[in-house]
Amino acid sequence: MRSHIVPATLAYDVNGTPYSPEYGDVYHSAESGPGQARHVFLGGNDLPGRWAGTRIFTIVETGFGLGLNFLATWQAWRADPARPERLHFVSVEKHPFTREGLALLHARYPELAPLAQQLQAAWPPLLPGLHRLHFEDGRVTLTLAFANVADIATKLRLAADAFYLDGFAPDRNPDMWAAAVMKALARLARPGATAATYTTARAVRDALAAAGFAAALRPGFGRKRDMLAARYAPLRPPRDAPSAAPQWGERRAIVIGAGLAGAAVAERLTSRGWAVELIERRPAPAAEASGIPAGVFHPHVSRDDSLLSRLTRAGFLLALNRWRALEAAGHRLGWARCGVLQIAKDGGDEARMAAAARALGLPPEYLEYLPRATARARAGCDTRAGGWWFPEGGWMQPASLINAQLAAAARGSRLVNHLGRVVQTLDLRDDRWEARGPDGSVIASAPVMVLANSHDAARLARLDAPLKQVRGQLTCLPADGQPLPRAVLAGPGHLIPLADGAAVVGATYDFDDDDPEPREEGHAGNLARLEKLQVGNHPALDPARLNGSVGFRCVAADRLPLIGNLPDLSVARAGVQARRLPRQAGLYGAFAYASRGLTWAALGGELISSMIDGEPLPVEGDLADAINPGRFALRRARRGKN
Ligand SMILES: Cc1cc2nc3c(=O)[nH]c(=O)nc-3n(C[C@H](O)[C@H](O)[C@H](O)COP(=O)(O)OP(=O)(O)OC[C@H]3O[C@@H](n4cnc5c(N)ncnc54)[C@H](O)[C@@H]3O)c2cc1C
Ligand SMILES: C[S@@+](CC[C@H](N)C(=O)[O-])C[C@H]1O[C@@H](n2cnc3c(N)ncnc32)[C@H](O)[C@@H]1O
Repeated sequence: MRSHIVPATLAYDVNGTPYSPEYGDVYHSAESGPGQARHVFLGGNDLPGRWAGTRIFTIVETGFGLGLNFLATWQAWRADPARPERLHFVSVEKHPFTREGLALLHARYPELAPLAQQLQAAWPPLLPGLHRLHFEDGRVTLTLAFANVADIATKLRLAADAFYLDGFAPDRNPDMWAAAVMKALARLARPGATAATYTTARAVRDALAAAGFAAALRPGFGRKRDMLAARYAPLRPPRDAPSAAPQWGERRAIVIGAGLAGAAVAERLTSRGWAVELIERRPAPAAEASGIPAGVFHPHVSRDDSLLSRLTRAGFLLALNRWRALEAAGHRLGWARCGVLQIAKDGGDEARMAAAARALGLPPEYLEYLPRATARARAGCDTRAGGWWFPEGGWMQPASLINAQLAAAARGSRLVNHLGRVVQTLDLRDDRWEARGPDGSVIASAPVMVLANSHDAARLARLDAPLKQVRGQLTCLPADGQPLPRAVLAGPGHLIPLADGAAVVGATYDFDDDDPEPREEGHAGNLARLEKLQVGNHPALDPARLNGSVGFRCVAADRLPLIGNLPDLSVARAGVQARRLPRQAGLYGAFAYASRGLTWAALGGELISSMIDGEPLPVEGDLADAINPGRFALRRARRGKN
């Protein structure tokens, strides 16, 4: 199964240098790993000198290994007063070490210890795809791509300033140096980008030359006489060369909507130094869909590791990282990572879930199949069946998250709230977006505008997207002394055991229904959902006497969110690829989060901020395309119905 990550084996050669039995090669020169990193990879790319004075500098590495090149680069960044404002290091690794393996290995390089410990603490689970780790308050960002470079290189979306080519000796690992890989990397290169490698093998020089790199020999490190330093200088720049990072006259953005979507965008933008004007029609944040008392978070799983599974994995992991970071910064979140048990519908479903979990081979800290007896023990209640166990899943009170994000965004006075203000229209004047109220007055204006206002975003942007409003009713079970499960139960509905002994059960999914009040029939439906999850623990509940809440989800026809730069439909043409769809400069959307606001919000915040600042995207290109707000227009254009 493609999604399975095989970790590296921890071994050493006779000199005590870390060694890979799979590839029959050492991880670095016997003389010194950090020394080689500095001489070959930093030096070969003329770093730190070449990054001096830049705002963002992006390095792409093939082969993360022990992370010595990353740690040495981070160390050089720290020591350099002329360092870039933000350093992005994107590294591809097919066989990552476990965190324990890394800790053992890193102990051999005391000079890197303080940074190595931070890396180990942030080390992600060994799951396929991209993992984004922030250090130095977000000024150093490591994006790890756990994948085969041959598969992932064409999916990275970034503009590289330097390449570290570090993939074992070409005769032991030719795939890593294949001409197709070099070509795919070249497509990521900014004009004038450089590359460095310790090898001088003919095949590598040829592949680099064919990809448009002019390589020259330089003195090698340790016992190696020579190494290669190259500069990207293609005869003809490729058609899909990375576009220049957007230049904004002023780093000021308007965000419309103070729900999960808008708060995450505001926090991520202000963390990058943007000033944000947040406009919300309600008198307080978290007053509409995000006003639900508690929501469940866990990724979607499918046997074929579908696009939805990959996207929700990315969203889930980004969310957990951001939420932990908020807590570490002293913000209080109302949440629990108590685990989520997704319960099978019947015996056949149990067998399918068990088979999928086996086939996927994902680490148990992410997903495990539990037969009914184990599921009962883990959840602490009598579940109807076995199912998938997500140990890192749980529940969150969205308002607590939104308040924490807005408090974080308000640091350094970068956030201005316009509460109780309705945006009626948008205007673009002199490259600035204006948000106007019902009386036509300008509430705020800025070069960047992010529509995070759910259903109303499509109206404001005049985007003809197939969106539905779907009513949802939750039922609150009072703390009545009934024992609650220890974990969230999910399936046809969900049960959330809150910290205070109360519980939330949900949720109805009502089309063409705009009743804002909870109804008895909705509570009865929710109790029926609960019955399918748990064997009768709430027999005496009377739907007529229960309380609850109602919200309205914004759901796109394909159930995926709309996140990214909004298309310019006046010039969209048939046959164009998603990534080349004409865009409205400075206008972004983050909406249609459907029933997964907690999973999509962190992804939306990081993706949009990365797009706005021209940083590497935190997800693969096919995932970004799948949630591109222009996708419906594109499909219409393909069918000739522009
Ligand atoms: C019953 C129910 C249960 C759910 N359970 C879960 C769950 O378990 N897990 C999960 O992840 N998700 C769940 N969801 C989904 C989740 O609540 C949503 O996906 C999420 O809240 C959407 O966030 P948002 O910021 O896009 O929208 P909203 O929270 O609706 O925020 C949009 C904001 O924009 C403002 N706005 C709109 N138009 C304008 C305008 N013109 N001018 C100014 N302001 C404007 C609105 O007032 C609103 O505050 C549930 C939803 C419902 C209804
Ligand atoms: C020489 S080591 C890298 C050392 C590393 N740069 C460091 O600083 O510690 C080469 C790495 O390439 C990885 N690798 C080998 N083949 C790969 C492939 N096809 N795709 C991605 N990574 C691969 C190996 O697992 C190994 O970790």
